Amino acid sequence: MSDETRQPAGGIADAKESAKAPERRTFLGAIIGGGMTIFGILAAIPLVRFALYPLYAKAAESGWSDVGPADSFASLSEPVQKLVTVEQRDGWRVSVAQRPVYVTKDKQGNVEVLSAICPHLGCQVIWSADKQDFYCPCHGSLFAADGSRISGPTPRGMDSLSTTVEGCQLKVRYEYFRQLLPNKEVAD
Ligand code: FES
Repeated sequence: MSDETRQPAGGIADAKESAKAPERRTFLGAIIGGGMTIFGILAAIPLVRFALYPLYAKAAESGWSDVGPADSFASLSEPVQKLVTVEQRDGWRVSVAQRPVYVTKDKQGNVEVLSAICPHLGCQVIWSADKQDFYCPCHGSLFAADGSRISGPTPRGMDSLSTTVEGCQLKVRYEYFRQLLPNKEVAD
């Protein structure tokens, strides 16, 4: 046997070790890479939720809008119209609009705020001080001072809005409701 073909035992072991080294490095790299990918996904979840929130949030979602000083409505004798500033979100677009509401009293004498949108087909109802009722100029629906239905094609009374008093300020949560339904239902 020539010297070229003969190898010492230690040399063979070294050769095997050096052949395994790339495999170990590949395995270690796969573990680190996998760990970083999982970490990246977990870290991205809050950002994705934040980015998508406006797309699945209700379009009609809005905060509380100022109506006026609460004590100025305590002695109401008939409904008064107020314009409230409403901030609405549609995807990432935020728009600000003024919407008319009526501050009135319910049958128990508690202050309530009514949407001025007719539940029939969405025209704006108007308070008639002469006749002491609300009427809709589009198809003639009539409502009592507390918003309850009197007559006409409207399927229900005027829609009441959620209210709260913060400090001395009466606030309302403005919402849109589905039309042509006998019961109030928030529109998405
Ligand atoms: S929209 Fe009001 S009665 Fe038709």
